[in-house]
Amino acid sequence: MTSDHPCIIIGAGAAGLMCAAHAGPGTLLIDHAAVPGEKIRISGGGRCNFTNLYCGPENFLSDNPHFAKSALARFTQWDFIDLVDRHAIAWHEKSLGQLFCDDSARQIVSMLRDEARRGGAVLRLGVSVAEIDHRDGQFVLTLSTGETATAPALVLATGGKSIPKMGATDFAYRVARQFGHRVTDTRPALVPLTLSGAPLEALKPLAGVSLPVRAACNGAGFDEALLFTHRGLSGPAVLQVSSYWREGDAVALDLLPGRDALAALRALRAEAGRKSPANALAALLPGRLAAHLGASLAPRGNMADLSDAALRDMAAALSDWRITPSGSEGYRTAEVTLGGVATDALDARSMESRNQPGLYVIGEAVDVTGWLGGYNFQWAWSSGWAAGTAI
Ligand code: FDA
Repeated sequence: MTSDHPCIIIGAGAAGLMCAAHAGPGTLLIDHAAVPGEKIRISGGGRCNFTNLYCGPENFLSDNPHFAKSALARFTQWDFIDLVDRHAIAWHEKSLGQLFCDDSARQIVSMLRDEARRGGAVLRLGVSVAEIDHRDGQFVLTLSTGETATAPALVLATGGKSIPKMGATDFAYRVARQFGHRVTDTRPALVPLTLSGAPLEALKPLAGVSLPVRAACNGAGFDEALLFTHRGLSGPAVLQVSSYWREGDAVALDLLPGRDALAALRALRAEAGRKSPANALAALLPGRLAAHLGASLAPRGNMADLSDAALRDMAAALSDWRITPSGSEGYRTAEVTLGGVATDALDARSMESRNQPGLYVIGEAVDVTGWLGGYNFQWAWSSGWAAGTAI
């Protein structure tokens, strides 16, 4: 059996659902999962951090940092907030411009399903694509059901490789390559970093300790929380720098961000001179971390015994603690995939392929990766809208 459509979208996630709402009646939206938008449902601890008030092109990584500008400017965070408001979904700002649903991420999935239905799209779940051909101006898809589906427009919206347990695949990369596209190196991003050997043994007792820091790596720095884990380092600050980190690099941690560490230590020496450094540091840092650093930086004597030079060394250690991770937790826990279909052969306005007219690539599958904080969903909405309205 063959069905003809004006457009076929593969992947009913964030970008595919948004695209389906605008691609025109009769659009076929296919997903191999049993339900659409699963990553939306689990995102933001079940409340979906659906966009960011301060979203701009500077919040994204790509081989071409200009590529995301057009779509982000034409369908903005304000456009998505307007959509959310029209569906009467209550939301709040948590911090740093991050917007979350008051109730449930499921509301965002329902909203997008409604919008796609209203746009006349037909959703088919539990269906995968065995083969894609292009002849006589039509994409010809052989589906896992044995059916054939054809359309002059085909949208790749199958996302990246993160969380394979949820059905993530490299499908978009394979199809893009089939049509002559280059795929940049891909790696797990927004992911906890791991330690091994002596550094892991030294820091393992700190598992569970969390504090605000500035974490920096390869020119990028983030003022957010750090969390020590049984395997290494996590928390928003580390997830953010993980997108910039490469094997062998150290992550620099400022444990007293925005404070003059030497002045703070001098004040401690004056006020708590009879305390051990481990005890005194607890006024500045969580207790277990203070004990660990006090014992390793100044194992003997009290605060009053520390010379100016010793205080300076301690201040340097607190404001520029270098830790070299051995790896990351990988795609198993990474929120996103860094890299993807290279932007050089995509039209920034429409997401259409320059190699194969009628082929579009949107969302995480493209080499555009956002920071933590609602930016990746905004890219999915903006790129999905850009393709949908261009088709
Ligand atoms: P997405 O992954 O959403 O959708 C791809 C769809 O394609 C899926 O439905 C999948 O089943 C389907 N598919 C895959 N391969 C297929 C194949 N071969 N055949 C058919 N279908 C196939 N971002 C953010 O901005 N705020 C947040 O709060 C979070 N939180 C968050 C938490 C967790 C745990 C994760 C893993 C990720 C996030 N993210 C996030 C990132 C965000 O979820 C992600 O960037 C977007 O979902 C990407 O949207 P896409 O539509 O491109 O892919």
